Amino acid sequence: MHLPNLKEARIRTKNEVEYVYLDNKNSQEFSNKKYYLKTYGCQMNVHDSEEIAARLESLGFTKTTKLEDADIVILNTCAIRENAHDKVFGFLGRCKHLKREKPELLIGLCGCMAQEESVIAEIKEHHPYIDIIFGTHNIHELQQLILENKHQQEINVYSYEGKVFENIPYTRESQYKAWVNIQYGCDKFCTYCIVPYTRGKQRSRKSSEIIKEVKELVAKGYQEVTLLGQNVNAYGKELPDELSFAELLEAVSKTGIARVRFVTSHPWDFTDEMIATIAKYENIMPYIHLPLQSGSDRILKLMGRRYTQKEYLELFHKIKEQIPNVAVTTDIIVGFPNETEEDFNETLKVVNKCQFDGAFTFIYSPREGTPAAKMVDTISLAEKEQRLAKLNEIVNKYSRLNNEKYLNKKVPVLIEGINKKDPNKVFGYTDTMKLVNVKGSKDLIGQIVDVTITDAKSFSLDGEI
Ligand code: 5AD
Ligand code: SF4
Repeated sequence: MHLPNLKEARIRTKNEVEYVYLDNKNSQEFSNKKYYLKTYGCQMNVHDSEEIAARLESLGFTKTTKLEDADIVILNTCAIRENAHDKVFGFLGRCKHLKREKPELLIGLCGCMAQEESVIAEIKEHHPYIDIIFGTHNIHELQQLILENKHQQEINVYSYEGKVFENIPYTRESQYKAWVNIQYGCDKFCTYCIVPYTRGKQRSRKSSEIIKEVKELVAKGYQEVTLLGQNVNAYGKELPDELSFAELLEAVSKTGIARVRFVTSHPWDFTDEMIATIAKYENIMPYIHLPLQSGSDRILKLMGRRYTQKEYLELFHKIKEQIPNVAVTTDIIVGFPNETEEDFNETLKVVNKCQFDGAFTFIYSPREGTPAAKMVDTISLAEKEQRLAKLNEIVNKYSRLNNEKYLNKKVPVLIEGINKKDPNKVFGYTDTMKLVNVKGSKDLIGQIVDVTITDAKSFSLDGEI
């Protein structure tokens, strides 16, 4: 296959072989054309969309936020729960309608959902208007897929197990805070989770490449980086002689970036060394997202989480004791197959003990191909919904109580943008990841300012500079 105007970049495999991959940088074939990019799901997808945007712009496309103006629509999808599926196909209905009026419109579907066999079968049978389908492992081929598409449906979903891409182009959404991938995929295989199947086994980037990227961001004036991975605590485990996650955090902290964050932490791989490092460096933010999933030992075992309630609580308390002013949030699944009232009460017990700063709560959603999807489940959806409502009530109570502790306190906030509802206000996040709305103008955007908190709600704070 011939490609115009190629730039070299590198791919590393587990055994350190360097490949060359092709990155079309200079074609302006689509100048004056517009792209509309819609992202579902996790931060990994949000960051992948920054790569997709860069690749579209390299072909000459410019961004639009109006679907009707688009010449190409890309939907970057999520497979973690079933409800994402309905949203995506609902939106595709709008795209299909638009294509009737505008037959030259290109429609692309990518991300984790595009890698599900059942979705591919559904697309082939019912959605012939989708032109380009690609997966999380071949975003780098996007330019090529567009240049060669003849408005015929092409499915290009590959598995690139073991490969790590470097020199990826990104059009970052923010000029002040940036995502930095430190690892791809996940080796944990929690029994309910589709991620290890869609994103593959864990592949860590080399620390030297990560540090290089962070230093470039510092030079560009970025204030904050978030180190990104499904299980950041297991960083580097599959690479001989690589830094541990604690050492990587330390090295990133020493680049001089104002704020370092990281997501997501798995309790199983969380070491004392990590806690000590987070406590030691002022620019490593005192905020940890530590998914609990369930408080019942029986369910935790069925989920394959590799820790007990007691071990989770021990880790949680160690974090709280050793990292001053730390905020901890979590993820919880209710209604895992055959979760009893007793099991659910164990979850509530942990929530009451930990009093999390916040929690993302979900009803279990069976994902085809995962071990949990084969488990017989006798609990009704109504029962699961009731449990979720009860859990949310308690979770929200603690969010509010934790937020109230900030009243009249002065906290550092990185101002990120204008408040959507009130143009005289700006918003940003504290070091502990609390959303704060502040009276002020756009001149503050990109600055870390001291804000005195004047009001506390369940999901945000109000303050004054
Ligand atoms: N059903 C419901 N929630 C899930 N999660 C992952 N897989 C599922 C599933 N099959 C939740 C977990 C995870 C978060 C990102 O999504 O809580 O931490
Ligand atoms: Fe999924 Fe578990 Fe990996 Fe998280 S750690 S991505 S829940 S398999």
